[in-house]
Amino acid sequence: MFWKFGLVVGKNGGLTGRGSVARGPQPLTALFFMFSTLIAAPICQASDAAAGARLYPVCTSCHGASGQGNQGMSGPKLAGQHGFYLLKQMQNFQSGARGAAPGDAKGRQMAAMAKGPRLSSLAALENLVAYIETLPDKAVAPTVQGDVLRGQSLYSACTSCHGEAAQGLKTMAAPRLAGQSDWYLVNQLQQFAAGKRGYAPADHGGRQMKAMMYALSTETDYRDVVAYINTLTP
Ligand code: HEC
Ligand code: HEC
Repeated sequence: MFWKFGLVVGKNGGLTGRGSVARGPQPLTALFFMFSTLIAAPICQASDAAAGARLYPVCTSCHGASGQGNQGMSGPKLAGQHGFYLLKQMQNFQSGARGAAPGDAKGRQMAAMAKGPRLSSLAALENLVAYIETLPDKAVAPTVQGDVLRGQSLYSACTSCHGEAAQGLKTMAAPRLAGQSDWYLVNQLQQFAAGKRGYAPADHGGRQMKAMMYALSTETDYRDVVAYINTLTP
């Protein structure tokens, strides 16, 4: 009852002569608590992401203002990707487990970004990832064509780690593939095959994925499997 009156008073700016019961201290107290809960809850949950938002502007030129990716800059879509995986990749770029292989110019470019002074603490990386997780996961236009049926049969070797819908499985440390930048997926398969990713002894996830490349042998395989992944909804 008081809540209801509190709302009426709040909306109408304390109209006199109406809802006189609502003019005592109790409804005001109720109002106060109501608003303080409404305001406090989002701030507590979003504080990390809000700090992360201030670290993101430097990423926009290559990954887009809302993390949608920028093929012209070779920057993949980040929105929609799992936080655990984004964090791990940032750490891999920092440690040299990724982006340090000879001839990997794009990886080196990204590694330089990950080593920015503002990202030197784990807390900063976690805030940044928390912010990326809030970005809208919009569909991206497919760019890779291939034989979807062949790709489907190739993909049977991938489900145990990436999931039936290529949604990614945290328990397997495997990223989401469906709905991410398809040209980048093909590119990364090339990187694993060439030993430019998954080369570091401590990079267990990367090594596992590199070992999986026995299941795909040609560029046509890469395109076919990615064409099939494009049909999946994570
Ligand atoms: C100068 C361009 C550039 C900027 C700026 C940049 N990146 Fe990247 N980023 C790249 C490229 C290129 C790749 C792909 C590297 C490769 O091909 O292996 C990449 C890859 C990544 C990946 C790996 C994604 C995956 O699915 O494996 C993450 C995570 C990432 N960037 C996060 C960031 C964040 C966060 C920032 C801002 C702090 C940032 N990047 C700034 C170019 C950039
Ligand atoms: C044994 C588990 C496992 C299997 C099976 C597996 N993957 Fe992976 N995959 C991973 C892991 C773990 C990563 C992340 C590697 C890292 O941390 O750098 C990965 C990464 C990838 C990436 C890079 C994505 C990105 O955003 O950078 C692609 C592309 C990929 N896998 C495709 C495939 C395809 C296609 C298959 C089937 C032919 C497959 N994987 C089978 C574990 C697996």
